[in-house]
Amino acid sequence: MPPSSRAPRARVDRALIVGARAHFDDPAYYAKTYAERREDIRYYEAIVAPGARVLEYGVGAGRIAIPLARRGARVVGVDWSRPMLDDLARRLARERGDVRARVRAVHGDMREVSLRARFDLVLVTFNTFLHLYTRDDVERFLSRARRHLAREGSLVIDVSVPHPGDLARDPDRLYRAPRLRHPTTGQLVRYGERFDYDASRQILFVTSEFEPVDGAPPFAVPLAHRQYFPEELSALLHYNGFEVTGVEGGFEGEALTRHSDVMILTARAQAARARRPASV
Ligand SMILES: C[S@@+](CC[C@H](N)C(=O)[O-])C[C@H]1O[C@@H](n2cnc3c(N)ncnc32)[C@H](O)[C@@H]1O
Repeated sequence: MPPSSRAPRARVDRALIVGARAHFDDPAYYAKTYAERREDIRYYEAIVAPGARVLEYGVGAGRIAIPLARRGARVVGVDWSRPMLDDLARRLARERGDVRARVRAVHGDMREVSLRARFDLVLVTFNTFLHLYTRDDVERFLSRARRHLAREGSLVIDVSVPHPGDLARDPDRLYRAPRLRHPTTGQLVRYGERFDYDASRQILFVTSEFEPVDGAPPFAVPLAHRQYFPEELSALLHYNGFEVTGVEGGFEGEALTRHSDVMILTARAQAARARRPASV
């Protein structure tokens, strides 16, 4: 192998490591950015019964987990971001004692964590699944998730739907958005995003760029999202021991269509009998 052929892959892999984490290093910015996002919370509130045992992968700062616990669910949340889990702890400290007691945070990698417990609902919320970049990541994760499902339990995954026009955006163009006051630095900043899609691995690299208006140095935050097409995600679930029981195209029960921006897949574990290969 010529030495030069190694370099690009190493560079992209670093971009993946950073792109999986950097966006979650600043919980104050995360909270401000998604403060208006309520529709997914309402969706999960509607499907979780009081007393249900819930496992949420990518729990973050508890944007979804805390409302579920307020409604009586017992939630275990897994996340590998210390800053997000620290923010979750701060938020829980402001909750009533019974709500606090119903949320347990586990620091770890969703591809590896083993809890020795089973759950009525296993949730993979708000694009967390898009941080599984390779087939190996997906297989490792789904095998863990399956072992955490109760017999009649359901796995629910919500992710954005890739659209060809979005993936074709010019990586050299900065897509400007309104100025904002950065909650962590306190600076007024010009804000924009760049989108660079690697079609060979179906990974969208998004860079958020901040330019303080007072002339202070600009800074950027990368994010890497694997793009899963609907039939691909269904197939991955099917070939990893799940039976897809529901597909929705929005948080109000909309059908998945060519116009949907989000897809919500619900699945349960395939019966052991169904998973056995046919005898020859
Ligand atoms: C978009 S946030 C969702 C947070 C929260 N569920 C919400 O809806 O606000 C994705 C979360 O997944 C976490 N995450 C990404 N990859 C992970 C992995 N391999 N293991 C554990 N957590 C991961 C990130 O740290 C982040 O907190």
